[in-house]
Amino acid sequence: MEDRIEKFLAELDLDRKLALISGASLFRMAGDPAIGLAEMPVSDGPSGVRGENWDESDPSVSLPCGTAIAATWDSTLLDDIGALIATEARRKNVYAVLGPTMNLHRSPLGGRHFECFSEDPLLTAEMAEAYVRAVQAHGVGACPKHYVANDSETDRFTVDVHVDDRALRELYLYPFERTVEAGAWMVMDAYNSVNGTTMTENPLLDEPLKGTWGFDGVVVSDWTAVRSTESAADGTDLCMPGPPYLWGEPLAEKIRSGEIAESAIDDKVRRILRFAIRVGGLDGTARPTPVFSDAQARDLVRRVASQAMVLLRNDGVLPLAPHTEVAVLGPSAREPRFLGGGSATVIPGHTVTPVEGLTGRLPLTHTAGVYLSEDLIPAPLAIMTDPETGEPGLSARYLAGDAVLGVQHRTSSRLVLLGEPLAAKSSAIELRTRLRADVAGDWQIGFGGVGHIRLDLDGETVLDENLAPESADPAAMLLDPPQRRVTRTLALGEEIDVRVVTGIEAAMPGLGIILGATLGIRRPRRDDDEEFAAAVELARTAAVAVVVVGTTEQIESEGVDRTSLRLPGRQDELVAAVAAVNPRTVVVVNSGAPVEMPWRDEVSAVLLAWFPGQEFGAALADVLTGVVEPGGRLPTTWPATSADVPVLDTSPVDGVLEYSESIHIGYRAWLRAGTEPAYPFGHGLGYTSWETGDLVVNERELTLTVTNTGGRPGKQVVQAYLSRADSAVDRPVRWLAGFGAVTLAPGESRTVTITLPARAFQHWGPDGWETEPGEFTVLVGTSVDDLPHAARVH
Ligand code: BGC
Repeated sequence: MEDRIEKFLAELDLDRKLALISGASLFRMAGDPAIGLAEMPVSDGPSGVRGENWDESDPSVSLPCGTAIAATWDSTLLDDIGALIATEARRKNVYAVLGPTMNLHRSPLGGRHFECFSEDPLLTAEMAEAYVRAVQAHGVGACPKHYVANDSETDRFTVDVHVDDRALRELYLYPFERTVEAGAWMVMDAYNSVNGTTMTENPLLDEPLKGTWGFDGVVVSDWTAVRSTESAADGTDLCMPGPPYLWGEPLAEKIRSGEIAESAIDDKVRRILRFAIRVGGLDGTARPTPVFSDAQARDLVRRVASQAMVLLRNDGVLPLAPHTEVAVLGPSAREPRFLGGGSATVIPGHTVTPVEGLTGRLPLTHTAGVYLSEDLIPAPLAIMTDPETGEPGLSARYLAGDAVLGVQHRTSSRLVLLGEPLAAKSSAIELRTRLRADVAGDWQIGFGGVGHIRLDLDGETVLDENLAPESADPAAMLLDPPQRRVTRTLALGEEIDVRVVTGIEAAMPGLGIILGATLGIRRPRRDDDEEFAAAVELARTAAVAVVVVGTTEQIESEGVDRTSLRLPGRQDELVAAVAAVNPRTVVVVNSGAPVEMPWRDEVSAVLLAWFPGQEFGAALADVLTGVVEPGGRLPTTWPATSADVPVLDTSPVDGVLEYSESIHIGYRAWLRAGTEPAYPFGHGLGYTSWETGDLVVNERELTLTVTNTGGRPGKQVVQAYLSRADSAVDRPVRWLAGFGAVTLAPGESRTVTITLPARAFQHWGPDGWETEPGEFTVLVGTSVDDLPHAARVH
C-alpha cells in the first residue's frame, strides 16, 4: 500500500495536493480523476447515516443513541449495529461515518450527552472500539470524535479546557487510544482548545495520536474548526467542509513563499490516499457489505432498543399481564423523541411511537396530560396537499428574483438546507401547501426561520418579518430557529392555502448557505388544566397507568448545554398526580441524559428508554409486556437532584473551563464526595433472579459462575472494579476494570470470564504509565454500589 501511495503522490503537483486536503463540498472529500481518486462523501453519524443531504426523500434507519448503546453493556451487539451502519453508508455512497462520539459524560448538563456513551472511560472505550471494528470490517471508515475534551457545548467554538495530563490520559484520551489501537481510519478533532491551543492545531495531535499511538489515518477537522491558514503546518490533515477557503489559495502562497513546508502537506495527502485505498475510493472497488432488508433493520433496532432500556425500580408491576388495561399518558407517549438533536439527526422513513407500539398489544386509552411546548410543530404530511402535484406534501420553489430555478415536491414541512446547490443560487424559497383541518377549532399557523419571512393565508399576507437568530451557533439556527404564528378558526375538514416565502441571506463563512425553514402548526387543544385533569381521570380508572415523560429537542441538543435537570413543563406534577390516584403507575423516561425524578419513590416502576431510535414503541411494548427483559444498566450515575452532582457546571470563566476535579468524574466523584445518587452507575433490574458462585482470580483473569434461578430468560451484567488501599497515588475509591454480559435461560448456569486489562492497574505519572507494585482489591457485582465478591490481586 505504501508504495502505491508514494506513486500517486509523485503524480500530484502542489495545487492538486491542496485540493485534496480541503473538502470538495459540505460533506464530500475531494477527488482527483487523473489518479483514479473518487470524491468521497462522508456523513453524520453516529446513530444512523444521514447521507450528504438532509432530505426526507432519502430516509435513514435511526438507531438508538450513544447512551442507549452503552447501556446495553454488550459490545457484541455492535457487530450487527456496525454492519447495519456500513450497509446504510454503502446505500448512500458514504465512505466514512462521522462517529462514534466518545467524549465523556463529565457533567449531566452536557448538550451532547445523549450522543456520547458513558461517564466511564473503559465502558466508553469498549463500545467505541467495537463500533469502529464493526463498521470498518465492511470497508466503511469510522471517525471517532471529537478529539479531545469536547465534553460540553457552552461556548464550544472558543472554550479553552484546562485539564491535567493524568485526567487526559486516564479518562479523556483513553477511548481514542483504544479506537486507534483498533485501527480507526479517521479521527475528528474538536472545536475547543485544550490547555491554551485550539484542537485543530494542538500538539496532542502529534503526541500521543500520531506519535506514540501510531495513528496513520486522517485527522479531519470538525466542521469549520480550522481557524487559520497557518494551521496547515499542524496536525489536522483534512479541513472540512469545502470548497477550500482557509487552506486553498492562501495556503498555496505560504508554501510558495517557503513559510510552510510542502512536506507537511505531503504527509496529509499520504494519509488521505491511505484512507481512500482502505475504503475503496482509489481503485473504485467497493467492498461488499451485508445487506439488511428493511424488516431485518427494524428487528435489529427494536432488539437493541429493548436491550438498552434500564429498569431502575420495579415493585412487581412489570411485566404487565396480558389484557391489562392501561392508560398511556404523558406528552412523549404520542410525540416521543426517537433521537437527539443536532448533527446526529437522521430522518427515519418509519417510526413507532409508544402509543402506536402498545396499540393492539394491550387495551389502552391515551391523552398527553401535559403540553411540553408552546412551539409549532412541522405541519404533518397527512394534512398537507401539494398544490402543484395534488399529492400529500408541499411544493418548494427556488426563486431568483422573478425566475423559478427549481421546484421540488417535498413530504416534510421542515426543510433543512445544507449545501443544497439550488439554494446557493436562489434569493428566496417559497413553500406552498393546502392545509386541511383534521379537528375543528383555533389553529395556529406559522413558520420558523431566520431572515426575511412572509406568510400568506388564502392569498392574504398575515406576517411579514425579519427574524434575527436567537443563537449564533449554526446548529441552533438550522434546527431551532425563532417562530412566528397567527391563529385561524377552522371547521373540521376546512382547507386553507398556506404560502411561506423565506429570503436567503448571505452565506456563513466556511459553511455556505445554511437554512432551516419550517411551515408549522399547532392544533386546537384543550386548556392546560382540562388536559391535565383528563389524564388524571384516565389514570384513576385504568388497571395500570404508563406515563411517558421526556425532554425536548430544544433542551437536549448539539450547540447548547442544559440549564437544569428538571423535566420540562408540568411533567413532574403529572406523574405525582397520576401516582396519587393509581398505585400501579409505571414511568417511562424518554431522555438521552439524566433528569430529576422527584416522584421516583411514589411510583411502581421507572424505566429509562433513552432516545431509542425509530422502533421505540415496538421495543417498549416488548419490555412492558415481558416478551423480553429490559437489558440495560446505567452507563452514567443518575442523580436525585442537580444540587448533589459533584461535577456540574459547564460555563467557562473568562473563556476557560477548568477540569479541576482531575480524574474524579462520574461515579468516582460521587464516591469521593460520599453523596448518594438516586441510582448508581451500573444499576439496572430485570425480570428474573440470579445467583453467583465464588469469584476465582488468576492473575488478571476473573471467573465466576452465574445462574438464572428465576422462571424467565434474563440478562446479567457482571461488573469488576478495582480499588487500592494505602496507595501512594491519588486514586478513585474504585474504578471499572472489566465487565461481561450473559443471557441465560431459566435454570441455566454459565461461567463468566473477565480479563482485566493491564492498563486498569496503571496510572499516568510524571514518567508516563506506571504500575504501583503491591496489592489491589478486585470487587465484583452488579453495580458500583453492589459488589458482594472481593479478592486480592498482586
Ligand atoms: C459536529 C460534528 C459533526 C459535524 C458535521 C459539527 O457541528 O460537532 O459532530 O460531525 O458538525 O455535521
